[in-house]
Amino acid sequence: MESQALRSSDWTLKRKRLPGMASLARGLRILVDPRFRSEWLLARRRPDNLFQPSGHTWGDRYEVFFSFVRDQMIGVTTPRLLSFGCSTGDEVFNLRRLFPQADIAGIDINPRSIAVARKRLRKTGDPAITFELSNSAQSLPEAHFDAIFCMAVFRHGDLEASRPDSCADKIDFADFERTVTGMCRCLRPGGYLVLRHSHFRFEDTQAFAAFKPVYRHRNRRGAVLLYGADNRRVEGALEQDVVFRKRAGCSGRCAGGERQCVKTQ
Ligand SMILES: C[S@@+](CC[C@H](N)C(=O)[O-])C[C@H]1O[C@@H](n2cnc3c(N)ncnc32)[C@H](O)[C@@H]1O
Repeated sequence: MESQALRSSDWTLKRKRLPGMASLARGLRILVDPRFRSEWLLARRRPDNLFQPSGHTWGDRYEVFFSFVRDQMIGVTTPRLLSFGCSTGDEVFNLRRLFPQADIAGIDINPRSIAVARKRLRKTGDPAITFELSNSAQSLPEAHFDAIFCMAVFRHGDLEASRPDSCADKIDFADFERTVTGMCRCLRPGGYLVLRHSHFRFEDTQAFAAFKPVYRHRNRRGAVLLYGADNRRVEGALEQDVVFRKRAGCSGRCAGGERQCVKTQ
């Protein structure tokens, strides 16, 4: 797992040493590798609300978090799950193994990733999984999902490489806050929000007031790269809250000014 995650930093080191060769290799890869091409195009075009353009994913990546949420939801007979930023579907198929009775929706901003995920889905014939092209939770129903997983989306690979003081050229806290607030709206009271590998902290948003952290994770590879509400780099933390539970009394409308939700539980 760690070695896959390190690949991009190895690549960055080589690129610094041999810039000409690296550009050539990248050009060739754009020509021959459809996945790489689609991500390169996404990064160049920067569609509205794009966060991480890379669709790098693999199965069984988040077993520990997924199992935790499953164990919390033992009494829920048909859980409704959302994988936000599902890439080519590995995360969704992994969730299916852990939640055999669930209805699972996967959404992603990359049209090629959704096409690949749907092709994979056709082979399984699973009627309780859907994949949709989307850049937000805006069109999804209110208070609908029992759990929303948003893994490795609110970040950007280029930031890891250069660790700039501001992330604003690549990703913006205001977009993060709006997007995560939209997800909160779709989560039922008592539901779970899982945020992993994010350069922003849910705790810095207004929507957080309607949630309670229920799972804290210690990062084995040191402090994570973090940016605050002003998009400035802040000191990274070794431990991070990853799973949040929506307070039972929350109306489901987690727009700004929801702090009163805390009182209603
Ligand atoms: C690194 S992949 C993560 C895939 C999977 N969640 C995982 O962790 O294995 C990041 C994904 O986020 C998607 N993405 C970025 N911004 C998005 C947005 N606004 N809405 C939906 N998907 C987005 C990208 O297209 C990409 O597939």
